[in-house]
Amino acid sequence: MHISAIMIFLHYECDTTWQCSVHHPCANKRRAGLGFAEELLERGFNVILHGRNEDKLTQLRSKFKDSYPTSEIRTIAADAASFTQADVERIVAAVADIPLTILINNVGGTASLSRNFKTYTQTTSWEVDSLLDINVRCTLQITTALLPKLAQSEGRSLIMNTGSKAAVGMPYISLYSATKALLSAWTLATAAELKAENVPVDMMCILVGETQSGQNRLQESFFVPSSRTMARSALNRIGCGYTVVSAYWPHALQGFGTDTLPRSWLDYFVVKALQPLAKSDKEVW
Ligand SMILES: NC(=O)c1ccc[n+]([C@@H]2O[C@H](COP(=O)([O-])OP(=O)(O)OC[C@H]3O[C@@H](n4cnc5c(N)ncnc54)[C@H](OP(=O)(O)O)[C@@H]3O)[C@@H](O)[C@H]2O)c1
Repeated sequence: MHISAIMIFLHYECDTTWQCSVHHPCANKRRAGLGFAEELLERGFNVILHGRNEDKLTQLRSKFKDSYPTSEIRTIAADAASFTQADVERIVAAVADIPLTILINNVGGTASLSRNFKTYTQTTSWEVDSLLDINVRCTLQITTALLPKLAQSEGRSLIMNTGSKAAVGMPYISLYSATKALLSAWTLATAAELKAENVPVDMMCILVGETQSGQNRLQESFFVPSSRTMARSALNRIGCGYTVVSAYWPHALQGFGTDTLPRSWLDYFVVKALQPLAKSDKEVW
């Protein structure tokens, strides 16, 4: 059993340690970003919530304030699909006066596609840009902007990226799986670089399997955790020694199959599972 090392990032009393969570908040309890925010507030962190809708951010802030009255909660609105240099500058300015110690890059998914599963040839040029913006460009730009701040922290800091088991390369969701493969490779390379250069920032990529969320409206089950369970499992992996790791152990069990099957078998099973969804008119998530 591994005991999470998350509390090493809570350097002082809770009024001085911050976490920046990337998500779009709304009343829907199934948002993974909300799960991260609640788990961190529960553990005494102050949080900065990033979303794209100012009103929803304000509502969420007051809801969290009721449950965690002593925590400080800030909000930043910026659309990941049209992220600009001005957004980057606003985010940097919003954290200028606080000691930031954790950055969670959770924004992502396939919501901008006309359907979740489709062939690459059915993917439009607009969808290509949009998926890259939401899953990759926003995360990389925010990290580039905030890394100097995280590195200046008095103790160690952490960047946690939300990856996916789809990073193995899955047919019918090929572009999304490629964005998650990029996040995994980028995390592995940057984490090693930060260590080699003695920068006191750890970096992890959490491989997420099917999780009940705003985008993936499945019934909760043994293999489909709630977003809160997923967030808790992710935070519990901190300090486990792996840079890219499954957070939720039943997903790791599923991952054993995808990691060890010969590629032709994996393709066979994934095509068998996803081809009907790509061909069906029914929206599955
Ligand atoms: N759920 C799963 O089964 C699963 C599996 C593997 C990996 N993941 C990963 O887990 C992460 C969280 O996804 P989730 O399934 O938990 O979905 P989610 O609850 O819908 O969370 C994704 C969040 O990103 C936000 N978002 C989307 N486009 C945005 C934009 N343009 N600007 C700002 N925010 C935006 C969404 O807001 P809106 O509600 O406004 O769209 C949403 O709150 C993603 O990185 C996803 O790829 C999820």
